[in-house]
Amino acid sequence: MKFRQILLTSAVALALSACGGQSPAPAADTAAPADAAPAAEAAPAEAAPAEAAPEAAVASKPAVVENCATTIEANDQMQYNADSITVPASCTSFTINLKHTGTMGANVMGHNVVVAAQSDMEGIDQDGAGVTPDHVKADDARVIAHTKVIGGGESTSVTFDPAKIKAGGPYKFFCSFPGHMTLMQGSIQVQ
Ligand code: CO
Repeated sequence: MKFRQILLTSAVALALSACGGQSPAPAADTAAPADAAPAAEAAPAEAAPAEAAPEAAVASKPAVVENCATTIEANDQMQYNADSITVPASCTSFTINLKHTGTMGANVMGHNVVVAAQSDMEGIDQDGAGVTPDHVKADDARVIAHTKVIGGGESTSVTFDPAKIKAGGPYKFFCSFPGHMTLMQGSIQVQ
């Protein structure tokens, strides 16, 4: 009995620490049932990453948009401060400013913003890995817009025509620095 309690306690501690950052609640949801029953063992703990159902989830951190522009912040914890950008339908051009609020260099914690159809994300990310300096393959037609990669303390921006994300989609913005896309992504839509 006591052992079981210890297990439960550590499971809760794990769940709590998993929430320590700004990671969304679902991590705790999948971690908690581990103690419950063997049946829960097959629960999709790994099959439910944050990007699994982005358009189904309600955006929790919408970007502030003013004058057909927004500023997204990125930090040393491999996070953007927004997970959704809504471009007003009246905008004929749209600017994404990116500000790296951390201190780590672009070579170890580089961030950029790439805009593309969700279905193209994986391919862009894979083909851009290691392509210096911006981790985007040259002339990649799947890329709708992208900033350069920046390090701590730096800022950059990119301006593009929102008409390119009006039809089709869903569209996403993400960081193509190797290994960052899973945590650093969000939806972008015209509305
Ligand atoms: Co990044």
